[in-house]
Formats: sequence, structure tokens, C-alpha cells
Amino acid sequence: MSLEKELKEKQKLQRHSFHFPGHKGKWKTLYQDLASLDTTETFGTDNLAKPEGILKDAMEEISAIYKSHRTFFCMGGSTMGIYAGLYALSRPGDKVGVQRNAHRSVFQACELLNLKIEILDVEKNSDGLAKSLSVESLKKAENLDILVVTSPSYYGFLAPMKEIMDYAQDKKVKILVDEAHGGHLPFFKKEASALNFGADIVVHSVHKMLPGLTSTALVHSGPRVDEKKLQRGLNLFTTTSPSYLMMVSIDKAVHWMDENGREKLQELDAYLKLKEEELKEAGVRLVEDPDKDSFKVLMEVPGYGGKDLYDRLFYDYGLAMEMYDNRFVLAVVTAFDDKEDLDALVEGVKSLEKRPPLKRTWPRELVLEERNLTIDRRSGGEKSLYYKEALGYRALDFITPYPPGIPIIFPGQKIGPDHIKTIQAYLKEGIHLEGLDQKERMEVMD
Ligand SMILES: Cc1ncc(COP(=O)(O)O)c(C=O)c1O
Repeated sequence: MSLEKELKEKQKLQRHSFHFPGHKGKWKTLYQDLASLDTTETFGTDNLAKPEGILKDAMEEISAIYKSHRTFFCMGGSTMGIYAGLYALSRPGDKVGVQRNAHRSVFQACELLNLKIEILDVEKNSDGLAKSLSVESLKKAENLDILVVTSPSYYGFLAPMKEIMDYAQDKKVKILVDEAHGGHLPFFKKEASALNFGADIVVHSVHKMLPGLTSTALVHSGPRVDEKKLQRGLNLFTTTSPSYLMMVSIDKAVHWMDENGREKLQELDAYLKLKEEELKEAGVRLVEDPDKDSFKVLMEVPGYGGKDLYDRLFYDYGLAMEMYDNRFVLAVVTAFDDKEDLDALVEGVKSLEKRPPLKRTWPRELVLEERNLTIDRRSGGEKSLYYKEALGYRALDFITPYPPGIPIIFPGQKIGPDHIKTIQAYLKEGIHLEGLDQKERMEVMD
């Protein structure tokens, strides 16, 4: 069967998407005639590497909507935006403060650009879920050149942006905010977006909380950023044949949000609150926090592990969730959801067979003893070992549950018994680990 047919077969099972992309497959609203716009840099279509015409105008309009100093299109997701943004802010050997629960792309950017990493701790909520960076944690860092803040996190936790920015700016530390999950914030909860507080670079995935095609992103830069260096960084990591379909999609997604998004998100937020009450009455545990984005619904249902819940919701009710971990599933709600989608979600969850609570244990959290990391995977030999046999070796690759894409083991880290237990626990819960092959082997350095 062709890939197209395979995908279509899988999609038949899905009735409501609570995962990315944020357009939720509701194509007709934005993208009906997109195929005819697939073109290249030709007569009058401008050049993304040196924009002076229609692309420049489009980026300026988007910048005006976001009230940024400058905004750039990015076709390699926030991953590429983070690479280009860090390129613009850094020199080789600079030290970057990175919170422990940053996405793999931040660590990879440091690897690519030869930057030193200082790991910064994050607060935990009462369920042990990583929340956000705090100023207290930031104060422990020494001599940072650059700070990368993730807000919101994959789970939706928001950082105290103003306090962090004030502190970092006072120390003359340059700031990149990974706001991959927060492209909707300026249309809903402006005060939570780093764009308000003078960050040097803010990166948004347009395909996550906004209705862009998968892999679309925006890089916003502030007045202190060397624009030529940022453009060079973007050119370095972008194909020389950027997709006009993706650029049109970014343009349409942001304009649609500007015209309709604020009202739609307010309406959905109010409805979601009512629906969440119904879920709680039915015994569902929701992760609630004043510092959490309300459009990320994190649910735990007694008697169900994360994967079990994720599978039951999909196979029995066609409700496709974004993510599961050992306990929770994450439903992502965007401006492209409708009340009927939320009704279906709540009905599905309420209809699940009632079960007694599970008695399960999870290994204690891995402690990252080495706070200062330099990642280099190019030098040094490598071999593949079944993960249990890797005890005492140094990992070559990140070992990362995906989603959410936060590494549990870093390249260069020596594998100890706790690492083995943790890998085993993830595998037992059916959680996909990047960095292990199908035979559960991992690459080691020595
Ligand atoms: C916090 C965070 N930052 C960055 C990224 C990378 O975003 P993209 O998939 O758009 O490259 C992700 C992806 O999941 C993420 O969760």
C-alpha cells in the first residue's frame, strides 16, 4: 500500500483530533486550494534568503500582528528556529543556561553550535511533573551568556516570564524563549508571552497551537539582535528551495487567528471549563495549576495507565490524543476545535469502563549529576549494545521519550543501574524511546 493510502486508512479511525497540527484536519477553512500555490523563487515571488518583495511584506504584516520588532518565516519547525536563533545570539564556546526539561532541539542546537550547557533545575508540581524555570534556579547559574527558557512546556506549564526576563536582562544575559507551544498566547493570554518582555528571540511553532501546516514556525527577534547574523543563521539551516505552501500556510494561519482566534479561544476556554467540571464529577483527575495553559488538558483516569487510556480513547471512541506518559494523557485543544469535539471528548472519557485504581510504582527520578555539559558526538568510536549491557558505557545518543522530546539520558553520560531501571520502566509502559532501536539497542561511545 502507498504511504498516502496507509495514512488515509489510519485517519479513518480518528473522529476527533486532540493532537497537533492545530488545524485539526479541518482543511476547508484555510487550505482548500493550496496545491496550486506550490512554486519556487521565480517571477515576482521574492527570495526567502534575502526577502525584499512579497515575502518581506508578509513577514512584516505578521510582525505587526505579533507586535514584534522583526519576524521571520521558518520551515523546519521550532527546531530550526531554535538553531537559527541561538546562532544569532552566540559565539562558539558561549555558555547557555538550559532548563532540565528543555526539548531535545535546544540541546542539539548547543551541540551544533559548539556551546557549553549549564543545566537549570525546574520546579515540580505535586504530581512530580516538571513545571517551569524559576528565578531562584536561575540565580544559581554562573556566568551565563545566553538563557533559553521553555514556556509553555509540552504539558502546558508557563514560566514567570517577567521575573525571569528582568533578572536575566539585569545580568546582561541574552534570552531565547522556546515558545513553540505558545503561538496562541498573544491571541488569548498576552501577558504570558515572552514577546511582551523584550526577549531577544521568541520561537513559535505554527503547526502546534496555531493552524499551520506541520513543520511551520516563526522566529521573532528583538531590537538588540544582529539581524544580518540572524538571517545568516536562518539561511544556514533552511533549504534553498523553501516551500511556498508552508509560507502561505503560516500567513493564513496567523491572519485567521488575528481575525477569529481571540473570540474563538475565549469561547472554547469558557466551554472547556464547564466540560472539565463534568470530567471531575466523573472521577477523572485533571492537572490544574494557575500557571498552566488551559488548552492543554492533562487527564488521569483511575485504573488506566497512560498508554491504556490513550489506546482505549482512540480505538473505542476515535478520540486521538497528543501524548501519554505513565499516568496522564494530554489532549490539545486549539481554535480549530468546536464545542462538539469537546462534547465527544468528555462523553468518551465518561463512558470508559470503571476500574479499580492501579497499584504501580515508577523508578525514582534520574538525577543529572553533571550540570555542565558539552555535547560532541562526532569524535569517538561507537557500537550498539542491548541497553542492559550498556551499563558502565557512555551513551552516544540522547535517550528521549517522544513525545514530549525531553531527553532522560544525554550523550556522554555514563549509564548506571538507575538509567537501566528507568529505560526498562518506560519500555514496560509502552512509551516510545528515541535513541533505542527496535531490538532495544543503544549506541555507546567507547
Ligand atoms: C518545547 C518544545 N520546543 C521545541 C519543539 C520543536 O518544535 P518543532 O516540532 O516545531 O520543531 C518541541 C516539539 O515538540 C517542543 O515540545
